Amino acid sequence: MIRLISFEGGDGSGKSTQLRLLEGYLSSHGRACLCTREPGGTNLGEMIRKVLLEVGDKTISSQTELFLYLADRAQHVQEVIQPALASGRIVLCDRFTDSTLAYQGYGRGADLHMLRQMNLVASRGITPDLTFLLDCPVELGVSRTARRMQEQRPTQGRVDRFECEKVEFHERVRRGFQELAQAEPERICVLDASRSIQEVHDQIRQIVERRLAGD
Ligand SMILES: Nc1ncnc2c1ncn2[C@@H]1O[C@H](COP(=O)(O)OP(=O)(O)OP(=O)(O)O)[C@@H](O)[C@H]1O
Ligand SMILES: [Mg+2]
Repeated sequence: MIRLISFEGGDGSGKSTQLRLLEGYLSSHGRACLCTREPGGTNLGEMIRKVLLEVGDKTISSQTELFLYLADRAQHVQEVIQPALASGRIVLCDRFTDSTLAYQGYGRGADLHMLRQMNLVASRGITPDLTFLLDCPVELGVSRTARRMQEQRPTQGRVDRFECEKVEFHERVRRGFQELAQAEPERICVLDASRSIQEVHDQIRQIVERRLAGD
């Protein structure tokens, strides 16, 4: 049974694009779904997202950063995800618990076991039924993000905290996501995100169709 689907991967890998396409597909097939994102997803979460964005490269300890992401998730799960699941909707979430492991764990070096425990508290034990890992070379994600920012108005084209990080950081995050997928191949589907938007969407659709048929 698939109820919660998360989209994970590096910046600019195409998570939001693919989430919207899947939402369109599911909705057109009469499946009620709810799209949401982390950080954000609630009013409080949007405030936390803004804090994380506006703090820029000013000093913020890695623990503070971690707690802000977890606080965002705790509110998000209670206020949005749990009620949506309870009402029978399929929830599509743009980043979830695996991002904490990849960015704060593999990227920043926090202990993975501790992060898993903290994730469980924040998510109230909710784990995704299916996760799409959009995997592509770091440089490709960076160039897509740069293009997207050029297309947007300057006020929207803000650089977030992780976008300021060095390439090595993003390489560690990418390897982290790949390791997580290797450990849980049933749940995490690795997709080659360097292909066209349509090709990636077709693969996602096939996987979702198969999983829904098995319900
Ligand atoms: N497969 C693809 N091929 C070419 N361009 C793509 C592809 N997928 C997404 N894009 C484009 O790359 C940019 C980034 O895509 P998107 O915003 O979906 O990525 P994201 O993973 O959500 O990024 P972020 O981590 O910054 O939220 C957008 O301009 C999008 O149109
Ligand atoms: Mg996005």
